[in-house]
Amino acid sequence: MTLIAQPLPSGFRPYAWAPSSAEVAARHGLRPEQILRFDQNTPTLPGVPRVPLAPSFARLNEYPDGTYRELREAAASYCGVEANQVVVGAGADELISLCARTYLGPGLRAAVSPPTYGLYRIVTELEGAEVVEEPDAAAVIWVCNPNNPTGELREPADLAALARAHPDAIVVVDEAYFEFADVTCVPLLAEQPNVIVLRTLSKAFGLASLRVGYAIAAPAVAAELELRRAPASVSGPAARIAAAALREPRIDVADTVAERERVRGALVGAGHDCPESAGNFVFVRTAEPLGERLEQQGLVVRRFLEGIRITLRRPRENDVLLA
Ligand SMILES: Cc1ncc(COP(=O)(O)O)c(C=O)c1O
Repeated sequence: MTLIAQPLPSGFRPYAWAPSSAEVAARHGLRPEQILRFDQNTPTLPGVPRVPLAPSFARLNEYPDGTYRELREAAASYCGVEANQVVVGAGADELISLCARTYLGPGLRAAVSPPTYGLYRIVTELEGAEVVEEPDAAAVIWVCNPNNPTGELREPADLAALARAHPDAIVVVDEAYFEFADVTCVPLLAEQPNVIVLRTLSKAFGLASLRVGYAIAAPAVAAELELRRAPASVSGPAARIAAAALREPRIDVADTVAERERVRGALVGAGHDCPESAGNFVFVRTAEPLGERLEQQGLVVRRFLEGIRITLRRPRENDVLLA
């Protein structure tokens, strides 16, 4: 028997996870507890579930409500939209794939503006579509706002103009870091039905391991996504904890934002090219092997061709990196 997988485009690079702390420690002759991670873009402390967990864990034999009504209603009220505008998924990542599955295919193009979140390129290529930099003639325009890894924030008015200028394209605005920026494109949806906004519980809510994200779109667009969504990819306990978190958001981004400004100020003061950031991270533009040098000391940052991205941790931990 010959099993033939669908061919991948030449030069395809799959999603790559960062090495574990144990691997990093072994590589540099350090102990795992000496490793400090500044590369995950998640908060240092976990979010706390706001519902008793026993009832959902007592019913692990049952499938979750496949319509995710409770979670969609909670997300809708958190965002000021209707529940029929919300589509849920196992993290924003699953919704990125769902947008690609819905609007891309062979012969189509998707615009990606690097450096940005790597999954846009991956899902585009997996659908057999082509990645381009210019939005003209693209079926999907991927926008990360604030942008991972640079932290750059584009004004909703700019993105409204982009969506108006490309009425036949879907503009996917990934707002994974929305809570740190407090700027959103959700109000655009009323006038620009070709915009989809993506959100996650993985960042400011501190619930990355739950794997919950949601898309907000005009009802007709949400219905198209819904038709192609996996039947029940969010587990029952995850949906319940996420709904409670969205109903009663107790997210405290002020300390992270203050650290972001302090750390950026220190980096700029030390002569680094560190642009303003609206996320829970800062970016240092450099061609030097800064990431490698930090890693030798047990400080793991995310490396890009254009520089390094540093996730903010607690002040004394950030001070170790600045020292
Ligand atoms: C821009 C962006 N979108 C999406 C994700 C993934 O989010 P989730 O954990 O909800 O899949 C990340 C995670 O780092 C991200 O940086």
